[in-house]
Amino acid sequence: MTTESTTQADKPRIGVRELTPTDGDFLVDMVVEAVNWSGEHHTRRGVLGSPRLARYAVGWGRPGDLGLVAVDLEGPRGLQVPVGAAWLRYFPSKEPGYGFVAPGIPEVSLAIVPGYRRRGIGRALLINLLARARAQGTGHVSLSVARANPALALYVALGFQPVPDAPGASAESVTLVLDLILPGSTRPEPPDQPA
Ligand SMILES: CC(C)(COP(=O)(O)OP(=O)(O)OC[C@H]1O[C@@H](n2cnc3c(N)ncnc32)[C@H](O)[C@@H]1OP(=O)(O)O)[C@@H](O)C(=O)NCCC(=O)NCCS
Repeated sequence: MTTESTTQADKPRIGVRELTPTDGDFLVDMVVEAVNWSGEHHTRRGVLGSPRLARYAVGWGRPGDLGLVAVDLEGPRGLQVPVGAAWLRYFPSKEPGYGFVAPGIPEVSLAIVPGYRRRGIGRALLINLLARARAQGTGHVSLSVARANPALALYVALGFQPVPDAPGASAESVTLVLDLILPGSTRPEPPDQPA
């Protein structure tokens, strides 16, 4: 089911739905957007040929995967057009993501199609994803972001904190963690994840 989040006439009408295995191609596009954040020209082929990048998208739908897609509700012929995604994936120590902290801490990824940026879609999608993660018992999430990426301000505003000694931290990139455990709240145990 798609839920509508924007109705103003001068803006696209945006809905949100779950990211499913049938979104695999779009998810690769979103990884391409994420690595091209500074205007580089990495391609789908380049992403799929890089195991460390491809692992963010390939085989979507395994246990622990959680993602949302923003869709433009007024695409051609009434079709819903995907315009962005926010997703969480667990990575094992031997095949880490760039923002890896621990096997039990999933990594957040976020990208919006260029023509739809700066409209609040990225923030809304990420907040929605984090709420769902919290609701299903996820305690922490992590990510890696270039220090020069404007997305860093969004993550800091949502409460993400730097992990200076994380494996992927460097002069150019920072690893961030968000504690999803609300003070005084009780939560179910997260599902077992591969070590
Ligand atoms: C980062 C990204 C997902 C943000 O999505 P978005 O829909 O454009 O973001 P929003 O409109 O919700 O903005 C949220 C906040 O992000 C920050 N931000 C995003 N883009 C920005 C920009 N170009 N300049 C300055 N701040 C920016 C701001 O803090 C903004 O809050 P504000 O509007 O109150 O200033 C989008 O720009 C994108 O896809 N970038 C390329 C991929 C990428 O860098 N992904 C993150 C990898 S870690």
